[in-house]
Amino acid sequence: MLALLSLLSLLPAATLSAPIFGLNFAPSTDSNETTAATSALSLDQVNSTFLRPALFARVAYCSSASITSWSCGAPCEALTNITFLQSGGNQGTVPLYYIAYDADENQLVVAHEGTDPKEILSIANDAEFGLVPLNVSRFPETAGQNITVHSGFQQTFERTADGLLAGVISGLASTGATKVAVVGHSLGAALATMTGALIKDAVDPSVDVSVTGFGLPRGGNVAWADFLDSGVGVNYMSNQNDPVPTVPPKFLGFQHSSGEAHIVDASQTNIVSCPGQDNENCATGNNVLDVSIQNHLGPYFDNLTFGGSQCSS
Ligand SMILES: *[C@@H]1O[C@H](CO)[C@@H](O)[C@H](O)[C@H]1NC(C)=O
Ligand SMILES: *[C@@H]1O[C@H](CO)[C@@H](O)[C@H](O)[C@H]1NC(C)=O
Ligand SMILES: *[C@@H]1O[C@H](CO)[C@@H](O)[C@H](O)[C@H]1NC(C)=O
Ligand SMILES: *[C@@H]1O[C@H](CO)[C@@H](O)[C@H](O)[C@H]1NC(C)=O
Ligand SMILES: *[C@@H]1O[C@H](CO)[C@@H](O)[C@H](O)[C@H]1NC(C)=O
Ligand SMILES: *[C@@H]1O[C@H](CO)[C@@H](O)[C@H](O)[C@H]1NC(C)=O
Repeated sequence: MLALLSLLSLLPAATLSAPIFGLNFAPSTDSNETTAATSALSLDQVNSTFLRPALFARVAYCSSASITSWSCGAPCEALTNITFLQSGGNQGTVPLYYIAYDADENQLVVAHEGTDPKEILSIANDAEFGLVPLNVSRFPETAGQNITVHSGFQQTFERTADGLLAGVISGLASTGATKVAVVGHSLGAALATMTGALIKDAVDPSVDVSVTGFGLPRGGNVAWADFLDSGVGVNYMSNQNDPVPTVPPKFLGFQHSSGEAHIVDASQTNIVSCPGQDNENCATGNNVLDVSIQNHLGPYFDNLTFGGSQCSS
């Protein structure tokens, strides 16, 4: 990745309008963008919505063995009173997820591992991974809504969906948790939206299911975005000039759900709430000539960076 970053910095700005890493940027001319005014978020608001989810999402980059024993170094030490329950995936072809019980919040946490920026950009933009129908047998209530989702994200989601859901249902029963927080960064954020919908469908309505993502790519069409807005509710954070939230492009039919919070500058304290889907004043309106892969990793607010470098193993 370092090699790619330095290559990028050597390119004259004009050449960046050509696809980079297979990156396929959208012309910003879609009627479904909103330009509604943003509003400032206080650090307390950001903290209460995003801090704990970010800490759990960061742990998902550590080794499976160290998560099982909750001894992954600083990322695990930042979260106390945690009981590991289950993990799945193999940190290779199938990304890792884990389920843990967070006693301080009396909640289950489901966290999906992400992937490196180069990989998420190429997966998101791979023409073979176009929009395909949502698996209606998983989400029967969506029959007739013509929802389509990114085929690569759905395939990846399906590989662990059954085991993950069984783990959540037994975890709720064994712990008495009243909430489920589904979190992830990058590819992990895309998976979290699907997992959140799955869990919400399956558990008692009294269980509060939340989905929180960081560096989230677009995952489906307008009908999927509308379904997430009405049935799930996703909060996601985009950091400055991260290109990942701008792919796959809108002109291929992709649309973000609402719930974006955008980090405006490197101070990490200028953070705004972006009403509507694909708000032009936030990541969707980014200048395609000025992308930062580093912004995808962080730091996000509170100096929080994703990736395995902070894990002890
Ligand atoms: C915009 O949104 C409306 C309703 O949400 C939808 O019917 C329409 O297809 C969308 N247009 C595009 C270009 O995605
Ligand atoms: C953020 O929230 C945590 C509790 O989740 C609290 O301990 C911490 O002091 C808060 N930090 C800020 C800067 O508000
Ligand atoms: C969390 O751990 C602290 C000690 O680290 C302990 O005092 C507290 O009771 C624990 N809380 C729960 C809910 O287990
Ligand atoms: C669709 O969901 C069902 C579970 O409802 C699952 O058994 C099936 O494998 C899924 N189909 C695909 C193509 O992933
Ligand atoms: C779904 O697509 C079919 C066929 O194109 C169309 O007849 C139907 O009205 C669409 N349904 C919705 C909810 O958009
Ligand atoms: C942010 O974290 C990095 C290392 O992760 C550290 O070097 C730096 O001092 C931290 N900055 C602040 C303001 O805490």
